Formats: sequence, C-alpha cells, structure tokens
Amino acid sequence: MEFEHLLADRTKLMQANAIREILKVVSDPGIISLAGGIPSPDSFPMEIFEELTHKVLSTHKSQALQYDLTEGFMPLREQVALLLRDRGISITPEAVNITSGSQGILDAAAKLMISKGDKIALEAPTYLGALSAFNPYEPDYIPMEMDDQGLIPDALEETLKTHKIKFIYLVPTFQNPTGRSLTLERRQQIAQIIQKYNALLIEDDPYSALRYSGESLPPIKTLAPDHVIYISTLSKVFAPGLRIGFYAAPKFLREWLVLVKQGVDLHTSTFNQALAAEYLAGNYLSAQLPKIIDIYRPRQQALMDALDRHLPPGFTVSPSDGGMFLWVTGPKGLKGLDLYHRAIENGVAFVPGQFFYTDPSQGHETMRLNYTMADETTLETAVEKLAAAISQL
Ligand SMILES: Cc1ncc(COP(=O)(O)O)c(C=O)c1O
Repeated sequence: MEFEHLLADRTKLMQANAIREILKVVSDPGIISLAGGIPSPDSFPMEIFEELTHKVLSTHKSQALQYDLTEGFMPLREQVALLLRDRGISITPEAVNITSGSQGILDAAAKLMISKGDKIALEAPTYLGALSAFNPYEPDYIPMEMDDQGLIPDALEETLKTHKIKFIYLVPTFQNPTGRSLTLERRQQIAQIIQKYNALLIEDDPYSALRYSGESLPPIKTLAPDHVIYISTLSKVFAPGLRIGFYAAPKFLREWLVLVKQGVDLHTSTFNQALAAEYLAGNYLSAQLPKIIDIYRPRQQALMDALDRHLPPGFTVSPSDGGMFLWVTGPKGLKGLDLYHRAIENGVAFVPGQFFYTDPSQGHETMRLNYTMADETTLETAVEKLAAAISQL
C-alpha cells in the first residue's frame, strides 16, 4: 500500500536515530561497544525490588494500580520535592510534576511551545534525544559554541541579542555527549543573561548525582528560578525501564504542560511511581548511589588513563568529573565516520561526534565514548583497538 500521503508534514523532520542505526552493528559479540548510552545493569538495585514491591502493595494498596493525577502520584511528588531541595531547589510537592522519563517533558515542552520555524538555542554538540523530541515541531536550531567548561556565556548573549529565541536547551552538568560541566561562574553569568533577555531555559539534568570527583554545582534553576524549567530523572540512579522523570517549571507553564501530558498518556504508570516513591522514602537511593558511583568511577578513570597512554598527539579528551561519557577531539581534518568504520573492523565501536551537531558541517573530528557498560580491563583493550584504528588511518 502506498502510505506516504498518510504521513503528516511534521514527519519530514523525523529521522531514524542515527545512533540506533549504529548500535545495530554493535550487537555483534566480537565488538567492544563504547557506543552505548545506557546505565550498567549492575547499577540496578535488583536485591530490593521484591521488598519494594511488597511495600508498594501494602502501603498504597489498590491505589498503586488505579488511574491517578496527570501531575503525578502525590507520595512521589513529596519525595521528589525533598530530593530537589537537596539540590538547592526550594519547591513544594504541588509544584513538582512527574513524567514518563525526562524524555516525556522534553516532548511536552516542545509540543506546547514550538511552532514551525521557531528558534531553539542549544549547545553544539547537544543531546540527540532532545532533537528527536523537538524535530517534529519543525524548529530552527541556533547552535552555540562550547569549550571544556561548557557553553560559552558570550555565545548565549550574542544569540539572544541577534535572534528571537523560543527557548534555550542546555545540559549543564556532565553533558551528553561531552561529559563537560559548566563552571559555577558560568552558571551565574548564564542566569544573569537569561534574566536580562527574559529568556526561558530548559535545564536538563539527568547526570549530576553521578559525580566521581570535584564539588557539586548548583543547578541554574537555583539562580534564576522563574526562567528555568528544571528537568531530571531516576533513570540513571534507579532503573531507566521504570520511566520516571520529573520537572520543576515556572508557574505560568505548569498547567499547560500538564494539559499536554494529559493528551499523551493521562499519567505516568502509577505502580512505577509508587515504586519510585518507596525507593526514595526508604532511603534506598542513599544506599544505592555510592554503589553506582563505585562501579562507574574506576571505569571513568580507566578510560581516561588508557586514552592518555594510547592516543597519539593531536587528540584531546575533555575533562569530566562524572556522568557516563568522555569526549575525544582529534586533529582537524579527521573523518570520524571513516575512523568509526576502521574501528569496527578492529572490534571496537564509539559514536562519531558529528551526529550530535545540528549543523552537519561540524564535529567530524570528534567522538563520544561511553564507559558505563564495560569493565576496566575491557576499556583498556577497547582503547588499544581504537588507537590501532587511528594509526591505520
Ligand atoms: C541529556 C539527557 N536527557 C534526557 C535523557 C532521557 O532520560 P530518561 O530516561 O529520563 O527519559 C537522557 C538519557 O540518556 C539524557 O542523556
């Protein structure tokens, strides 16, 4: 059956996720994959799930299986409000909203705010999943320059001066794909700039709990509360399959975002929200987080050390204190895709960095390496193979 005429105009900008296509090759067991972007299954608190499930059923009874408010399950909103207060965001449970992963709020925000041709300002490179959420609403992207300390504030100011921007999207801490974090000083500058230009920022923060060194940094939300939708998730510190995300939005947007979600899924799974509520209320997160960090910290260190030892001159690694990724920049003229194919032949995979740029001419000399899914020895072997591919090129 011919079907193209059935598709809405907005599908023109929907693309198969390039990383998914790449991951197809990577499922070959002979290939070490640094291309993934998912938590290690060893980070899931498997041993407490029976107990948690029992708690959910005994505490919340049939309520855990019932329809619930679109805003979110109140016992979870109470717990998330406490978690956000620990991050410096003072908020009442009523102002916390739950979504199906942080992806859910990225989509809701896009659906609510983007009309065709609206300009969205974002870091170059940026998180691909955000582009997947925004693309169907046909925005134009204004990429902004970063360095090893994250977004350059002058680039933001210049963008806001030159363009009418609908919203800014940033991942300020342990960014996906670069692992970089904005310094405190830059956070303060960015907070001032968005207030000066009366701009709205979506601050996406899935990774800040995964800190392996250095001091914690305040969310920009704490510095410009009325100008920021702060979004976060339990995907990296509990279980991504449960799809529990949450956000704190300025009051004027909250009801609208809830209305949008109502039309999508009515609410996020009540049972999963109840599991998350018990996970937080029972202090299981406080016990689990150090275990997760104990898995990832030596992996990050092993990858950094191996890159330091094996990468030839001309290659640099962005400093990173946490998260799930390291970002490598090669010499000008390097073709990341060619290197990717050579690396696959050598038995190692990564994500060529060009996929994370909205401007297709950028990022060809970069690559994203994930370290959550491989142990230290495997990471060392992977980097040896990568270095061999580089020297063969
Ligand atoms: C920057 C960023 N935002 C959002 C998400 C989506 O997470 P969730 O599982 O909460 O939808 C991810 C997942 O990798 C991410 O890296």
